[in-house]
Formats: sequence, structure tokens, C-alpha cells
Amino acid sequence: MLPDFTPTTLAIEPLERAETIPASWYTDSSFNAHEREVIFARTWQYIGHVCMIPNIGDTRVASVAGESILLVRDQHGQARAFYNVCRHRAGPLATGDGCGARMLQCKYHGWTYTLDGRLRGVPHWNRVDLFEREDFGLRAVRITEWEGLLFVDLSGDAPQIDEVLAGIRERITPATLRDKQFHARYVYPVACNWKVYMDNYLEGYHVPIVHPELNKVLDYTNYVTEAHPWYSLQYSPFRSDADNSMYGANATEAFYYCVFPNLMLNIIAGRLQLNYVRPLDAEHCEVIFDYFYDDVTSHAAQEQIATDVRYSEEVQREDEEICAHVQHGLHSRSYHTGRFSVEREEGVHHFQALLKGCLKKRTYSG
Ligand code: FES
Ligand SMILES: [Fe+2]
Repeated sequence: MLPDFTPTTLAIEPLERAETIPASWYTDSSFNAHEREVIFARTWQYIGHVCMIPNIGDTRVASVAGESILLVRDQHGQARAFYNVCRHRAGPLATGDGCGARMLQCKYHGWTYTLDGRLRGVPHWNRVDLFEREDFGLRAVRITEWEGLLFVDLSGDAPQIDEVLAGIRERITPATLRDKQFHARYVYPVACNWKVYMDNYLEGYHVPIVHPELNKVLDYTNYVTEAHPWYSLQYSPFRSDADNSMYGANATEAFYYCVFPNLMLNIIAGRLQLNYVRPLDAEHCEVIFDYFYDDVTSHAAQEQIATDVRYSEEVQREDEEICAHVQHGLHSRSYHTGRFSVEREEGVHHFQALLKGCLKKRTYSG
């Protein structure tokens, strides 16, 4: 039985009256396991960028909803995803990233599969009865691409990605996401439940207290939150009287998109900083930052990137620290639920409503 899982805690109330989700939802390990099934295995999960598997036979391994997933560029140049689990006795096809493979060979007894997942070579298989190779291809995972970003959906029935992300492309013009160059990935372990990190991302309420330097750059008076069916946007123009050189000369505004459940797209002219959160257990997660820029090669661009990354790391450190304190606070016998600022926490409320919607659907309609 899941803790505090009742019609009352699952009810979605208007922002003005709503309570935050119960503390136990952030600390209980059975709740965490439930979320893996009803949220992470049933929504589009970012798995990488097309430029990470540029050539035929390039492979990457990613963890999605606790599963090891293999991303492959097949012999026709198409990106595919498979469960990284051999159909023989569940060995791994890959234990790390690779390039230029002509086929996929299991690391246990050497069964081989074509890059599009058909079983091909089966060593020492004489006298085996009632076995058809075509029945033992790799299990495929639904995969899609949006603006160069690759997503997988383990359930196979998440809404189309264009529906989930509708409106983003148009809203950010003249900025674009396509044709960006990958710069680097940074992984930050954080001592909190994944939802603590998401809640924190979803409001600028904490910025003046937790991020005094960032606060000098954002124009708080024009900070807006927009709620869309599957994502919310926090938008902030930069202050014209502040030094925002860490974002480059053309930066005048920032778009902070949060796509349910765990993806964040931080867009500033010429730059996409993508973050996604992976729960590790109920009380730990890791946040992965992928940086993309229009230009990653010129000397000036590299200096700019180094400044941007350094600045983001500072903000990230501040967030990690406060999130770990919040996780600790959620265990207090004094705390059960809280309330929302109508002016500043609409994004958190929107996220928690989507969360409840997913949990409810699976509770009441199977
Ligand atoms: S588990 Fe893959 S070949 Fe045996
Ligand atoms: Fe923050």
C-alpha cells in the first residue's frame, strides 16, 4: 500500500487552494517504485541527441525507468532503440558506448543480431527443437526524434511527441533548437527525491534567496509562467542594466521549459542547455546536463562556453544544497504538506497536478 495515497491527496485543487503533495511521496521507496512504472515507463524519456550516434553502427547505452536501453544507428541510417537484453539468457548487448559496429553481439555467449535487431548468429545450436530465429529478435522500444533530440517511450502509448511539445518551436523564434552542436555532458548527483529537484526548478520564488547572482540578471518584474498540457514555461527577459555577458552578446531573454515528467530545456539565443533528472532511489537522483551551442569550435565561442558552464555550475551547486536540506526537512515529524504562492509557484502546482493525473489514471482505470 502506498503512503498517503487517497482520493484527498490525489485531488487536483485550484492553485489558490491547493496543498503541496504529501512529504511521504518524496521519501517512500514503494512510491518511488510505483512512479517508475506509471510515470517513467509511460512517458517520453530523452535518450540522447542524433549527433551522439552520427554513423551506422554507432551505439549508446542509456538507463530509462530502471531499464538498460541500447540506442543504435542501423544499417539504413535510422536511429533505433532496443532493450539491452539478449533473448538467450538476458546478457547485455553492450556495456558502454561504441561506434561503427557491423552487428550487435551479446557479451555473454556471443549471439549476434543485425543493427535492426534481427537474430542472426547462434553458435553451437544443433539439435535445438522448436526454435525459429525470427521469433528471437531484440525487443524494440518506441523511439522518436524532435529537433534533433531522441526520445523513447517504453509503454508504446504515450501521445505523439509533436503533441507533447506543441508550441515550443514557435514560441522561441528567432532562436532554434535544430542544428546545434553538442558540447559536453555533466552529471550531478543530488541528495534528494527527483521531485524535489523538479519542484525547485519550477519556480523563481527561491531565486532572490538562493541565487543572489542570478537574481541580478533576471528581470523579475517580467518573469512569467505559462502552463501547457504537458509542459510549463518560465520566461524571463534579462535586465538591460545588468551584466549578462556569461550568456553571450545576443542574449536578451531566457526560456525555461519543463516537460513532464523530468526534462528541462533552458534556451538562450545560440544555446540549449538540456537537463534531465534520473531518480536513483527515493532520496537520491542525478541531474544530467547536456550543452549544445550554435558554435562550439571558434576560440571566442569556447571562452563563452567555459563562462556559461562555470556560471551554471555555481547555480547548480546552490540548488543541490537547498534541495538536500529540503529532502531532510520532508522527514520531519512537523511537516506533512505545504501551500503554493499563486504569483510564483504556478509551475510547481502544474507539475504536481500532472503527477497526480498520471498516478490517478493508473490507480482507478488500471
Ligand atoms: S545471454 Fe546472450 S548469448 Fe547467451
Ligand atoms: Fe534554483
